[in-house]
Amino acid sequence: MPNIPAPIDATKTSAWKALQDHHDKLVADGISLKDWFAKDADRVDKFSYDLSDLHFDLSKNLVTEETIKLLCDLAREVGVEDRRAAMFEGVHINTTEDRAVLHTALRRPAADAGKLVVDGQDCVADVHEVLDRMYSFAECVRSGEWRGVTGKAIKNVVSIGIGGSDLGPVMVYEALKPYADAGIGVRYVSNIDPNDMAEKVKGLDPETTLVVVVSKTFTTLETMTNAREAKAWLLNGLKASGAIDGSDASVAEAVKHHFVAVSTNLKLVEDFGIDPQNAFGFWSWVGGRYSVDSAVGLSLIIAFGPKVFEEFLAGFHDVDRYFCETPLEKNVVALMGLINVWYSNFFGAESHAVLPYNQYLHRFPAYLQQLTMESNGKSTRWDGTPVTTTTGEIFWGEAGTNGQHSFYQLIHQGTHLIPADFIAFANTPNPAKDGEQDVHELFLSNFLAQTKALAFGKTADEVRAEGTAEWMVPARCFPGNRPTTSIFGIKLDAHALGELIALYEHIVFVEGTVWGLDSFDQWGVELGKQLAKQITPAFHDDEALAKQDASTKALIEFYRAHRE
Ligand code: F6P
Repeated sequence: MPNIPAPIDATKTSAWKALQDHHDKLVADGISLKDWFAKDADRVDKFSYDLSDLHFDLSKNLVTEETIKLLCDLAREVGVEDRRAAMFEGVHINTTEDRAVLHTALRRPAADAGKLVVDGQDCVADVHEVLDRMYSFAECVRSGEWRGVTGKAIKNVVSIGIGGSDLGPVMVYEALKPYADAGIGVRYVSNIDPNDMAEKVKGLDPETTLVVVVSKTFTTLETMTNAREAKAWLLNGLKASGAIDGSDASVAEAVKHHFVAVSTNLKLVEDFGIDPQNAFGFWSWVGGRYSVDSAVGLSLIIAFGPKVFEEFLAGFHDVDRYFCETPLEKNVVALMGLINVWYSNFFGAESHAVLPYNQYLHRFPAYLQQLTMESNGKSTRWDGTPVTTTTGEIFWGEAGTNGQHSFYQLIHQGTHLIPADFIAFANTPNPAKDGEQDVHELFLSNFLAQTKALAFGKTADEVRAEGTAEWMVPARCFPGNRPTTSIFGIKLDAHALGELIALYEHIVFVEGTVWGLDSFDQWGVELGKQLAKQITPAFHDDEALAKQDASTKALIEFYRAHRE
């Protein structure tokens, strides 16, 4: 194991014991946000924070000043500050892969070149060398200078990747759509299900399509299969229209003009036939789910331009600096992570909803699912010992107000405690009026109404006062004390989005540190990949079929009987 200290068992710290006593006392006294607000006129001020473009209201959480103090004690006792420093300095805190964890280097300004030399590499200089190449390439595509094999400018990009090589770019592409200014559309293919590719290339002209293959390893089954499928689609299309004659030279020329790659494995990129000049690298110290601000964001630079991407990186960097420089008690990034631990370990909350009141953020919950659950869904600590408490919140969500008409019922009146993050913005790029009514304000009033209802509920007396029949009163009561955090931004632009992503990256880090986890490996995804390779031959080979377990065998037999 790399030479880093073993995790400190959070459950054995004095802060943990104090938190348990504090929790039990709060419960015994009766938690009531309504009373807490009534008794403390400064509660909102005490639990509000500003971080660049984002305003945070944590007052509707089940916390008191004492809770915050004890959570910060816990963070100190388990060494959050030391581990944070170790991460930013490039210590190999990803122990199981013996790697540094330096996604924060991706957003450091060029002026920091020379200041972060890790394992002999000047990380910031290398980041900017690739960024500069990506910016020039993207500008060529955007301006029409980059031509397809028949001399036509690019009108569409098909980006192929999966997991961290897809979820980030898709989410950001959707989120920043109002800033797409080059008339170039991007379609993202991730699933190995051929339906995904078939639908995404529908209507595209191979002559004006650029394929970006994104894969950290350049070995991922889904991505490499889809990349070959895309190659076949493109070459067949070009041959069918007579644009190329199908000779080896014409094929190589077509691939050169229509395929570029993003990877840490530049050797395999070249083997695929992609010109190394058109390959954009990143490094083993960038985890897939932490990579949207690396070369993995190439499709975004093509769609939005270098300036928007620079603002995006600046948003991340502002949060990185804040996270490092702000004392824990005032550090909303650290506090959000610690409050999540509070709910998970002391209230037994199992899941966490993220509810963006912004349609452009509709893929944000899906993005966060990989970031949070692939990072912290673990039962072994970074030194190989078992965890000592529950870990890994189940993240899920949906854009408001759609969720309101679906699962909010369970959050309001169900038996589970589900802490929720609400995210909204004061401005919209699409103002609209319904008669005299500003529709954005109507929308925002829903965000505010939901957090209010969750916090303060509705009592039996209030229900009775509406004339409800007595037997129906319980069904119409709202218990309240359902915790929420409100994140209110000025507008959803590249800077604010970079801030939001970095915020959750560091929340994951804080939680992972308290639980003693290596939040940067993902061994839990490997077994399924191995087994899929063993199962594939069984569809046609009886010997391979005989080796399967009874259930898998029966399912394959069903397939064999029904495949047309
Ligand atoms: O699903 C596992 C995983 O390794 C993710 O961590 C990663 O983001 C994804 O596969 C894609 O990997 P690659 O970028 O190497 O194709």
